[in-house]
Amino acid sequence: MTNTFLDAVKARRTYYGLSKEEVVKIERVQEIVNEAVKHTPSSFNSQSSRVVVLFGKESDKVWDITKEELRKIVPAENFAATVERINGFAAGYGTVLFFEDQTVVENLQEQFALYAENFPIWSNQTSGMLQYVVWTALELEGLGASLQHYNPLIDEEVRTAWNLPKEWKLIAQMPFGKPTAEPSNKEFQPLEERVKFFSN
Ligand SMILES: Cc1cc2nc3c(=O)[nH]c(=O)nc-3n(C[C@H](O)[C@H](O)[C@H](O)COP(=O)(O)O)c2cc1C
Repeated sequence: MTNTFLDAVKARRTYYGLSKEEVVKIERVQEIVNEAVKHTPSSFNSQSSRVVVLFGKESDKVWDITKEELRKIVPAENFAATVERINGFAAGYGTVLFFEDQTVVENLQEQFALYAENFPIWSNQTSGMLQYVVWTALELEGLGASLQHYNPLIDEEVRTAWNLPKEWKLIAQMPFGKPTAEPSNKEFQPLEERVKFFSN
């Protein structure tokens, strides 16, 4: 029996080695991101997720910003390794920036005071689901991606560079491109320790 969804779930991995070589057209990436944003569920169908997709020099820019922000805080003797890591992300075809619109979250908190504490959590959860859908869909196209978190360090510069609303809170960055190296080996913990089934 085949299960294409679970096959895609199994195939998705973290790729650090990327190149700019065009595996799919920009339009196809746009289509994937649009479909993912439209169909990923959100609490109360609040649709709080916001996404910016950067290609080419625009993508390089986010990694330049990251490098410059890191330069301010990373000890000089460690900075070469930091640059190497960031250059690896910049070597890709593009970067997806994931945001959550805090206006939506705050409106929900006002409207449904009973759940006020939950809305920021659910907002992060919907963002995680969206990140996962995009990540897996990119992998299905033959692209490799990883998930990075240089927020909040880069938030202000990113907002300025692309003139984004201040209510858009940066949650994650996903560099993607043609894989140039295999993902590293992954160890799995025993499922019996992680999952319980009950039936009668
Ligand atoms: C919520 C979350 C946060 C992560 N943050 C980072 C990160 O900041 N940097 C990074 O290189 N990888 C990050 N990862 C990737 C994980 O390290 C990776 O998914 C995990 O080791 C399993 O490997 P795989 O993605 O190849 O299956 C993150 C993954 C998740 C789900």
